[in-house]
Amino acid sequence: MLKLDNIVAGYGRTRILHGVTLDVPKGGLVALLGGNGTGKSTVLKTIVGLVKAQEGQVTLAGQIINDVPTEDRAALGLSLVPQGKEVFGGMSVEENLLMGAFHRRRHRTEIAGDLEGVYQRFKRLRERRNVAAGMLSGGERQMLSIGRSLMARPTMLLLDEPSAALAPRVVEEIADAILALRDLGLTLLLVEQNVGMALDIADYIYVIRGGRIAFEREVGDGVAMDELQEFYLGGKEHA
Ligand SMILES: Nc1ncnc2c1ncn2[C@@H]1O[C@H](COP(=O)(O)OP(=O)(O)OP(=O)(O)O)[C@@H](O)[C@H]1O
Ligand SMILES: [Mg+2]
Repeated sequence: MLKLDNIVAGYGRTRILHGVTLDVPKGGLVALLGGNGTGKSTVLKTIVGLVKAQEGQVTLAGQIINDVPTEDRAALGLSLVPQGKEVFGGMSVEENLLMGAFHRRRHRTEIAGDLEGVYQRFKRLRERRNVAAGMLSGGERQMLSIGRSLMARPTMLLLDEPSAALAPRVVEEIADAILALRDLGLTLLLVEQNVGMALDIADYIYVIRGGRIAFEREVGDGVAMDELQEFYLGGKEHA
């Protein structure tokens, strides 16, 4: 579904990604793990086109999309749930959700149906539909941010640290919501620092360090926390 081939990218003259290669199969739930400042968000921004790949290829459903503008990538089904649970604080929950449908010219009844779908998925958002988004708890803001992305009817969702700064019970709720989206047929790339959560739900993991993939492994009985820690803390290089 999505392939990154040897992506080199950065900001101005500063290179952050030094040849990132990864693969997210259709319907898969792949996690990209790594410490602070290792380039995780830069990978997601390169996928949606907010950062330009200087070298390498971004391929979506067989089409090289390096030169496709960000808006058009949304039309191809890509949607990013950005880091930081950013919402329009002065607008109501429902207004925030409707912003997610803004790019698609769709019939009112279709949009109403999508809105209903999000409310079914996140019941708390329905209860709080008329509340200013700035009044929401962290968990509710994360649900709103995911809900807003869903309003664009993506086929592939990129989530940037959805569990950050949330209580364990709320992290579980978010994890369940992500699994439900996978069951719905969405393809997911999840950036996380919460290794436990990622190992619980992902079927494949990559670890990025210093702008390079340092480790990758299918998640099954075999992935030991210890082994992962080693890659986090340094020492080992990609075998
Ligand atoms: N807009 C920008 N301009 C210049 N440098 C940037 C910009 N955004 C990020 N960087 C730098 O790029 C590097 C990687 O940042 P990135 O946001 O991709 O890391 P990250 O893995 O997502 O970190 P975190 O876990 O803290 O979110 C960092 O050194 C950061 O300072
Ligand atoms: Mg980040």
